[in-house]
Amino acid sequence: MTYSEPTDLAVLACPGGESFADEVIKHLNHIYSRRFRQKSDVLAKRYEVDRTSLVKDINFYNDLLTSDICIRGDITKFRAPDFKVKARFTWFMNGEFKTEILDCIRGKDVFIFQDVENHQELVLNDGKNKLTFSVNDHIMSLLVTIDAVRHAGAARITLVLPVYPYSRQHKKKGREGLTASLLGHLYENLGVNQIITLDIHSREIENTFHKARIENLHASYQIIRELSKIVDLASEADDFVVVSPDTGAVDRNKFYATGLKKPLAMLYKERDYSVITQNAHTTNIKSVKLLGDVRGKVAFLADDMLGTGGTLLKAMEFLKEQGATKVIAAISLPFFTGDAIERFDEAYKQGNFFRIIGTNAVYHEKLLSREWYIKTNVSGLFAQVISRLHHNQSLSDLLDNRNIIEKLVKQDKPTESE
Ligand code: R5P
Repeated sequence: MTYSEPTDLAVLACPGGESFADEVIKHLNHIYSRRFRQKSDVLAKRYEVDRTSLVKDINFYNDLLTSDICIRGDITKFRAPDFKVKARFTWFMNGEFKTEILDCIRGKDVFIFQDVENHQELVLNDGKNKLTFSVNDHIMSLLVTIDAVRHAGAARITLVLPVYPYSRQHKKKGREGLTASLLGHLYENLGVNQIITLDIHSREIENTFHKARIENLHASYQIIRELSKIVDLASEADDFVVVSPDTGAVDRNKFYATGLKKPLAMLYKERDYSVITQNAHTTNIKSVKLLGDVRGKVAFLADDMLGTGGTLLKAMEFLKEQGATKVIAAISLPFFTGDAIERFDEAYKQGNFFRIIGTNAVYHEKLLSREWYIKTNVSGLFAQVISRLHHNQSLSDLLDNRNIIEKLVKQDKPTESE
């Protein structure tokens, strides 16, 4: 493995994760070509050699290291590695899955992508079938794929799961199972070495693992970058408040309040857990109370995930009733289950909120056409993390966003580089 030609880095996308994997691969290409350019510029200057002949030498060295006789690409240019592993995914009529890896991945550092909340129509069986998968279908297709990767001799297996499935079942009351942990054991027993996820619902899930590691990324910088385009974050006026939508989201929202140097308020919701939330209208929320003041202010709420939308819609309606001028919410993992998008359309028409900022870590084409929805792109962050893990480099500055958030808030000028 060399810095300029990471031929051992392989990306394998399960059907649900294909779209996000493609986005991340674009960024990987960008990262490696930028690194190559920077490094070759510095070396050419330092050794006082012509850059073109230096690039040729680097390519010669890389070609020398590979057993490949039919070497691809122009020898005078940076040659973007082919990260994506070819695979065939078969769905049988009884609902079983099969994954066949079509490229050799023996000894490779394989990153398997899956988006378990991708409920768009997927094309399978070489284009013969179009199907919509449930979360459980996606999990099964992931397990089958991990097994195929292990049998094909991968050196290291990393799951890229922006949504950690069943993360809300991380603690139990009475005779319940610990499903978040059950899935963790399955991954670990299948030989998974590490998992990359986004704003995991509970940090307790990390306790599940004996050998595997979890890298929990945060979308806060990417969210604030979009927020700064619609709100003057540098303003000293007392007209902005961060509101935690419930007690479980306090830490997350405290992070935003501290980073933005704004006050924090909190909603307290009384839930009736004997009721299962059916949709955004029929939720288990019985009453809502506000700690803090939102009157005459822009209220900003951040939550890890949005399912039916019931939690958020109730919170936003309540904040408007309490006198908030504008309500803006940020969601790291926007599932928008069932008819949630239509419910948000209605709430938007009624003026209950101004914008929802959501990441592209969950595939949702329908959302992108909504005036009230702002997509923020986290694929660059995932690409940087993957590249650093591959080269055994530190992730610290990518996991702790406080410095770049401070810079962004001071300047209040978004940059697209991350
Ligand atoms: C709750 O603890 C979570 O952080 C989310 O607020 C909740 O799961 C969202 O679900 P829904 O959109 O169905 O209310």
